Amino acid sequence: MNKSNPIGFFDSGIGGLTVVKAVTKLLPNENIVYFGDTARVPYGGKSNNTVIEYALQAANFLLRKNIKLLVVACNTVSSVALKELKRFLTIPVIGMIEPGSKMALSESKNGIVGVIGTVSTINNKAYSKELKRLNPKVKVIEKACPLFVPLAEEGWLNHKATELIAKEYLTELKEKEIDSLILGCTHYPILHDVIQKVMGKSVKLVDSGTPAAKLVEEYLNGRGLRNDSNKIGYKEFYVSDIPAKFKEIANRFLGSKINNIHKVELEELTNEL
Ligand code: DGL
Repeated sequence: MNKSNPIGFFDSGIGGLTVVKAVTKLLPNENIVYFGDTARVPYGGKSNNTVIEYALQAANFLLRKNIKLLVVACNTVSSVALKELKRFLTIPVIGMIEPGSKMALSESKNGIVGVIGTVSTINNKAYSKELKRLNPKVKVIEKACPLFVPLAEEGWLNHKATELIAKEYLTELKEKEIDSLILGCTHYPILHDVIQKVMGKSVKLVDSGTPAAKLVEEYLNGRGLRNDSNKIGYKEFYVSDIPAKFKEIANRFLGSKINNIHKVELEELTNEL
């Protein structure tokens, strides 16, 4: 394996760009290949078997780009398919659940942690299992917020409807006095401001992207795989569909312009396994 090989990222859509942003900030010289399954998003209401199947297809696609490490930049996939991905791949695989849980525990003072995510992430209890494994005394309040994903994909970041929906979902968590809230879906950091507004300033919002980026750094250092070039790394983006507003929204999520977008045909993904 070569140090200059890219890091692979995978999400059901555009949300994983929030993790790319965190990794790029910490490791600007790394080359990056991203796959967003925009034709089949959202994954959050799909069965575990379907998500596992899609995840293996995406991993297989990224392996053909010679990635040196896979970041599963999707909480839903991290919740249900991490074990299978680790079994299938010989390269390291980093998910979102462990780094996000560790950070939430270090941020919480009263030991009451809230988790919001897709129906799949919440029903699989991925975060509450991990949080309790790390600290059996923690109290966890979980809530699925499925409408946040289409709102983020639409770019409705400051929309009245988004605030109304956020209030509907989050009031319950606020009443249970959580003091840290895991944004357990990589789409949710995009709605950070509206979520913070509804929860109030005293609640710390935890985005797995930053601690996941730290974990990526540790893995690369530990395996001697960190790219030591002094050039800014390249970024290639692959999506299974290019919705009209994709570029505009993607630029906003990533905080920089995306030019290198390629469309992948679904047959290319499905024929390979
Ligand atoms: N971004 C994804 C996550 O982190 C899922 C969104 C979806 O496909 O439902 O869970």
